[in-house]
Amino acid sequence: MNNKLHILVTGGAGYIGSHTVVELILQGFRVSIVDNLNNSSIKVLDAIEKITNTKPAFYNFDLCDDIAVNKFVSENNDIAAIIHFAAYKAVGESVEKPLMYYRNNINSLVNVLDNINEKTPINFKGIVFSSSCTVYGQPDILPVTEQSEIKKAESPYGFTKQVCEEILVNNSANVNYVSIALRYFNPIGAHSSALIGELPNGVPNNLVPYITQTGIGKRECLNVFGNDYNTPDGSCIRDFIHVVDLAKAHVASINRLIENRNKSIFEVFNIGTGRGNTVLEVINSFEKVSESKLNYKIVERRKGDIEKIYADTTYANNELGWSAKSSLDDAMLSAWKWELHLKNQNM
Ligand code: UD1
Repeated sequence: MNNKLHILVTGGAGYIGSHTVVELILQGFRVSIVDNLNNSSIKVLDAIEKITNTKPAFYNFDLCDDIAVNKFVSENNDIAAIIHFAAYKAVGESVEKPLMYYRNNINSLVNVLDNINEKTPINFKGIVFSSSCTVYGQPDILPVTEQSEIKKAESPYGFTKQVCEEILVNNSANVNYVSIALRYFNPIGAHSSALIGELPNGVPNNLVPYITQTGIGKRECLNVFGNDYNTPDGSCIRDFIHVVDLAKAHVASINRLIENRNKSIFEVFNIGTGRGNTVLEVINSFEKVSESKLNYKIVERRKGDIEKIYADTTYANNELGWSAKSSLDDAMLSAWKWELHLKNQNM
């Protein structure tokens, strides 16, 4: 009998999910992944095994399928905690297909909670939810703390994050387990092995995959969206966090649940570096670590972009005993190595 604590990771084959599964396994947890492979590849499982010498249990089903979720929960009454990543995440697509986002992102969480509530596993401690700094919109004061105002959502994607947090708040009041929402800032980079990383579908929307794809020659030129913002070099400021640091924040949250260290039934943490970098600084960092020049040009601002945001991570640092360790250069180098790995695989 395996006496390692059993963690369910929904969306565990995805970008942040796969890095988190690796860190959980390395910390001695037993992991089951549920993923419908909608935006991820089955090959990730082999990569996880190569890194950790362990193949996590894998279940291919859609969390919107209530019967499948019910069956899974019934058959796994030893789950100690859940990390719920599974969701659609493209901001632009959510504007075009809002109902698809509401149906998927909200139903999947409701199904998971409903079934857990009905058949709560014996030693179940709680759920960690992937939220986003997008809930803050353009904050009035920087850095943003967990107490900063929640602004009207800029996109259906952002709204699903707000609604899901609220669902967890309401649910927490009626159950005997804890919910933690982690509000991620901008995750970038890849595992140091270069065996797992971000696999954007088609043309990337996000900055760093666009940079590395331009660097490798998959894209001709990076468009920098605006250099007339009120920032030191005129380009937008974000808090870019290495995905492995972000993954470790999930392990810290799981440990907090298991050790009953929560201060309330619903908790929120900002997960960033606490450092703001401009888009042009990210490009400079890429040029430095890749020892190459990036082809880019300044174009109009992108609609919906906020000028600047970065995290106050004091609460996460103190309460989770966690902090982001990697520099921007470390993260950019790992992203570049991942892009080179994809090229070697002809991907
Ligand atoms: C978006 C989402 C955020 C999500 C994050 C990671 C919003 C408002 N933002 O953040 O919720 O967590 O993606 O998936 O919902 N840029 C360029 N050229 C490009 C691409 C980006 O100049 O080709 C600039 C953007 O203008 C922005 C910065 O790079 O200033 C970061 O953009 P991006 O990587 O798309 O992330 P966000 O928009 O910050």
